Amino acid sequence: MSNVVVVGAQWGDEGKGRIVDWLAERADIVARYNGGHNAGHTLVVNGQTYKLALLPSGVVRGKRGMIGNGVALDPEALLAEIARMEALGVRITPEVLQIAETATLVLPIHRAIDAAQEQLRDKPIGTTLRGIGPAYEDKVGRRALRVCDLADPAYLSQRLDLLLAHHNAWFRGLGLETFEKAPLLDALLAMAPKLLPFVGRVWEQLDAAYQAGQSVVFEGSQAVMLDIDWGSYPYVTSSSTVAAGAASGTGIAPSRIGTVLGVSKVYATRVGEGPFVSELDGALGEQLRDRGREYGVNTGRPRRCGWLDAVQLRQAAKVSGIDQLALTKLDVLDGFDSISLCVGYERDGQRIDYIPASDAALVGVRPVLREFAGWSRPTQGARTMDALPAEAVALIEAIEAEVGVPVTMVTTGAERDDVILRDPA
Ligand code: IMO
Ligand code: MG
Repeated sequence: MSNVVVVGAQWGDEGKGRIVDWLAERADIVARYNGGHNAGHTLVVNGQTYKLALLPSGVVRGKRGMIGNGVALDPEALLAEIARMEALGVRITPEVLQIAETATLVLPIHRAIDAAQEQLRDKPIGTTLRGIGPAYEDKVGRRALRVCDLADPAYLSQRLDLLLAHHNAWFRGLGLETFEKAPLLDALLAMAPKLLPFVGRVWEQLDAAYQAGQSVVFEGSQAVMLDIDWGSYPYVTSSSTVAAGAASGTGIAPSRIGTVLGVSKVYATRVGEGPFVSELDGALGEQLRDRGREYGVNTGRPRRCGWLDAVQLRQAAKVSGIDQLALTKLDVLDGFDSISLCVGYERDGQRIDYIPASDAALVGVRPVLREFAGWSRPTQGARTMDALPAEAVALIEAIEAEVGVPVTMVTTGAERDDVILRDPA
């Protein structure tokens, strides 16, 4: 297998984790390149559910995992996740997990900033409140603490002074409680010996893997529509979620990225605020939420649900170079009398075939829906195209034609092998 980047093609929660889990069996390494514990990747292995936020989805099966420099790493969250995995019998050793020295640290102060910023916004973003955005702000502001700093207490202490001087001025200005240095520094120094054995030159290890002919699955978090550049700004996350992020976020050369596999549900969901043209408010939306169990892995928030949006997917495919599409959760549509696909947008009687850049330009945009017949025979657990009802095949083919990207995988259930493989037409 060549290298593959797995990218969320919608607004997140597409089922990237289980696709990565499936690919990981055929690969040597799984590498995370963006985001942090705002991600929630669920896998079911032999009936046991694993919920991962920071660990690459291959570790459950003992596959080598890497956390790249593009990740915002909360050391407390990572250690807690490692402990949770170990309690489930999954050993996380330095042979299994390597963390880039240059990954940005997420600290408790970032969570406090995230919460305060959300309160200050007249229209909140609906962040996961994990401190991810503020940590990336510090990275770009050149004041972040990085994983490698944990090895040098004196330097760590200096960097923390700089960070606190910056943020405490802001907290003070707002009349909010400021942060003391000592507890922050003590906590970091206490965690350092637990984390440092995992820390290495991920870029070098990925290059060595490439030279040795090994293959890597780059596991994207979030999704194209939450990308800092390509998403529905400002209702986005703060990292590069697109395939290009795999290069800058791990150190792999863009020319070595290989295939880009976009992951999309056969319908759409979004958690948090921001535009969602094909959103369903009424009973149909609730039916999708119930059948798809559309509640956040991370925050438990009910997800907004709607029909699949081909305008959005087409654009995501272009800006992220999606070569193939994996369609997930087909079985959730079992039992719907009719199913719609958003094939265009309309505003004041005018057809639009792209996502308007500004929020204001989206006001009054309506979805142009194409209706498909539902099916009566369940697709749940189907593992071949032949096992699918003709109506489901017709829907898959229509999605492929509308998006202009071949659908090469379809999932029909939560178990890893509830997957249909299709050759690109
Ligand atoms: P996975 O990897 C879905 C959303 C939040 C919010 C916005 C910004 O599981 O697909 P942030 O905390 O990142 O600053 O929040 O992005 N968001 C996600 N939505 N899946 C995710 O990750 C998400 N990570 C962040 O709801 O709207
Ligand atoms: Mg998720």
